[in-house]
Amino acid sequence: MLSEKLKEATKTNHQILEKALVGKLKAVRSAAQYADLLKLFYGYFGGLEMNINKVIDPNLLPDNAERRKTQAIADDLQALGAGIPAKADGDALPAINNHLEALGALYVIEGSTLGGKIISKMMQQQLNIGPDALSFFASYGDDTERMWNIFKDALDHQAKNPEQEAVVIAAANQTFLKFGEWFNKNQ
Ligand code: HEM
Repeated sequence: MLSEKLKEATKTNHQILEKALVGKLKAVRSAAQYADLLKLFYGYFGGLEMNINKVIDPNLLPDNAERRKTQAIADDLQALGAGIPAKADGDALPAINNHLEALGALYVIEGSTLGGKIISKMMQQQLNIGPDALSFFASYGDDTERMWNIFKDALDHQAKNPEQEAVVIAAANQTFLKFGEWFNKNQ
């Protein structure tokens, strides 16, 4: 299954990113620091989402419109009274030129809903902020696992051969790597 291969092939990059993020998250003590973190996600996921939307085939992911979007980060930033930063573009983002590459990037975005639930709990414990500032990391709430399973199921029906699978996997790894670069450059 492609979803299993993706998990295995991106494991190291996930661990590196998670490690970098956990340290930063644990150090968050104010709404302003939390807003800075949200801005990092907004810039990267925002640019990524624009490029995905240019090439994704909506028929192959019918519930795409219901899925978590960068707009949720903008809503959280607004609830915190923080500004909305510019979106990443050009070389700051992975190359997303076709539907398969878009799926690889979406795998990273959708997978981040799983870690998002942990992040949301951490922020609730560390800060005095309401749910209106936590909509992005709250992901799909109790529906998060169900939405993840639906996404994986869609993913598993799309790559037709090992060559196509390799395209999705390479795009997912690039998406993790470029996020790490973005994170290091902008923090
Ligand atoms: C503090 C930060 C993070 C923590 C603690 C965390 C934690 C987790 C956990 C617990 C899972 C579920 C593993 C499983 O059920 O097998 C997961 C999966 C995943 N996370 Fe993270 N994560 C973090 C950040 C991120 C970020 C920032 C991204 C993407 C930009 C990301 C992408 C993914 C992906 C793609 C998966 C799915 C792996 C699979 O295929 O099952 N994570 N993460």
